[in-house]
Amino acid sequence: MAKTEPLPGTSDIFPDETAKWQFIEEAVRTTFQRYGYGELRTPIFERTEVFLKSIGDETDIVQKEMYTFEDRGGRSLTLRPEGTASVMRALANGGIPQGEERKVFYIGPMFRGERPAAGRKRQFHQAGVENVGKIAPHIDVECIAMLDDFIKNLGISKTRMLVNSRGVLTERPQIAEKLHEYFSSYKHLMDEDNLRRLDTNVWRILDSKDEKFQEVILNAPRIDELLSDESRDYFKKVCEGLDVLGIDYEIDPRLVRGLDYYEHTVFELQFDGIGAQNALAGGGRYLIQPPGIKKPLPGVGFACGMERLMIALDELGVSYGEEPGTDAYLVSLGEEALKVNLKLAHQLRGEGLKVQMDLENRGMKAQLRTANKLNAKKCYILGDSELDQGIIVLKNMEDSTQTEIKIEDLLNKG
Ligand code: HAM
Repeated sequence: MAKTEPLPGTSDIFPDETAKWQFIEEAVRTTFQRYGYGELRTPIFERTEVFLKSIGDETDIVQKEMYTFEDRGGRSLTLRPEGTASVMRALANGGIPQGEERKVFYIGPMFRGERPAAGRKRQFHQAGVENVGKIAPHIDVECIAMLDDFIKNLGISKTRMLVNSRGVLTERPQIAEKLHEYFSSYKHLMDEDNLRRLDTNVWRILDSKDEKFQEVILNAPRIDELLSDESRDYFKKVCEGLDVLGIDYEIDPRLVRGLDYYEHTVFELQFDGIGAQNALAGGGRYLIQPPGIKKPLPGVGFACGMERLMIALDELGVSYGEEPGTDAYLVSLGEEALKVNLKLAHQLRGEGLKVQMDLENRGMKAQLRTANKLNAKKCYILGDSELDQGIIVLKNMEDSTQTEIKIEDLLNKG
């Protein structure tokens, strides 16, 4: 690997790719703001404890993926592996009065030490939302609808919305016991990860990607059938709300999601064209107690992987709009002409045009070559003889026609 290459699982994003990013960011802002969400920007690193308890000790993220380091004062810090825990810390810090609701969205890099693969990076970007403070099935419905809306606004089709319920904390032990009882008879077929999960976090076995174990998972007791009446009723209302809105979804009784903070509704948006890393977005309702806060706070939200959205957009051939081009290129022959063009460039940019010019006094041919390379729509050409006549030549690069304009008229226009 060349020393100039970025580390595996990270990328440099060059100007010719930023149009894609801006296209998605624009859709994020317009869609989420329509639902009353405002942008929140939290720090990229936090005290490690912000993530530990909320994400869960037994999750893959906490077990093996966090970038954790000590600062000079010996404090343990972590690069954020996801956005929800930080958002909850920030909102709790501002204080949420009882019964009030906060609605925020975020866009930014997240860090997980996973094995890099197509659609799986170590520094990736999420666009997410969190609705914090209240619990009601219809808040979950609106949240799922917002994800559906966002994906459609981007022009992404061929997706599947999977939904499930994880019930509430108090009913987990009974469900875990049933799952434990069932999976214990298949220890001989389990890989190392599932063997560990059997005793530490049996739910996560349902989420296992181990090919050889899929049949066993398929026949496992269904969580939706083990839930309490209250949880089932909550989930029923969520599904009814989705029906009212005509949102396509599938109930996937094995969807548990990889973070421990979820309660009630969980959902994942899958896109079938992108191989193993097919989750474009994931989310759900949760209960999180940020460090130093007495009572856990409820919320519901989701995050989309922006790199994966781009893979889906490419797969579907959705166009992102053009990279910003060049409206005008100013060719100057001689020191005096260059000075006049500096002023002209300033004025044209002030009028909102994208303008570039030669600043090194190169020859005419070299300057026109650059103008062509930049795909400039127009060239303003100024040399000594034009200066003497007080004119500038305007060349239309599309049809090569030329006109002469008085410099005075151009520069005094504004
Ligand atoms: P998550 O499922 O861990 O959930 O991540 C959400 C999305 O981020 C995934 O569906 C995927 O598109 C993207 N993603 C995750 N890891 C990677 C990676 N290594 N490389 C590329 N993309 C990745 C969460 O992070 C929760 N905080 C979502 C949430 C918000 N739940 C409630 N509110």
